[in-house]
Amino acid sequence: MRYLALFGSPRRTGNTAVALSSFLDGLASKGHEGEMVWLHGEKIAPCTSCNGCKKDGKGTGECVIPDDMEKLYSLTTKADLLIFAFPIYWWSMPAQVKLYLDRLYALDYSALQGKKLFLLMTYEGEDHNSGAELLKSTFRCICEYLEIDFIGSLGISTGSLPASENAEALEEAFTLGASV
Ligand SMILES: Cc1cc2nc3c(=O)[nH]c(=O)nc-3n(C[C@H](O)[C@H](O)[C@H](O)COP(=O)(O)O)c2cc1C
Repeated sequence: MRYLALFGSPRRTGNTAVALSSFLDGLASKGHEGEMVWLHGEKIAPCTSCNGCKKDGKGTGECVIPDDMEKLYSLTTKADLLIFAFPIYWWSMPAQVKLYLDRLYALDYSALQGKKLFLLMTYEGEDHNSGAELLKSTFRCICEYLEIDFIGSLGISTGSLPASENAEALEEAFTLGASV
């Protein structure tokens, strides 16, 4: 299976990076290949809702904004598995991830049908109300709408222990990657 990991933290070696690395090691252990994109390093402008991408109500796959999404559209449609990995910001996703997500508006959504999606989040809070449940629900809704198979999620609290020192969480990330 070909994956595309959308890495949404601006911190290249922070909690999310470490957790994602374990998940990808798990995937690689089963022979899966793919790409990881550091969204913070990509030039992605916000969707302006100009509808320049639509023809007969459907996305054409081409946005009028010339930026790094051109490459990301192609990587996205080629992948069988999309991995969203990000730190929770304000009970939500970081702006870097939202920019990418909004720009998927330009695609013919049938190009996304049948893909799989895994959600990996890190967050400081230790209670249920720290945002992970909200994001799971958001991504479930997105997947239902796009007919994508939401195959699972992992939330790692980093409040008392950075992900790099949380062997149990990293093991879980590896195991989940290996069981996709
Ligand atoms: C702008 C900002 C907003 C945040 N909002 C939340 C939040 O709503 N809930 C939470 O539990 N942690 C929140 N955090 C903490 C991060 O999610 C947490 O430290 C995460 O593990 C950082 O991951 P990273 O090292 O990959 O960047 C926030 C951090 C920042 C910088």
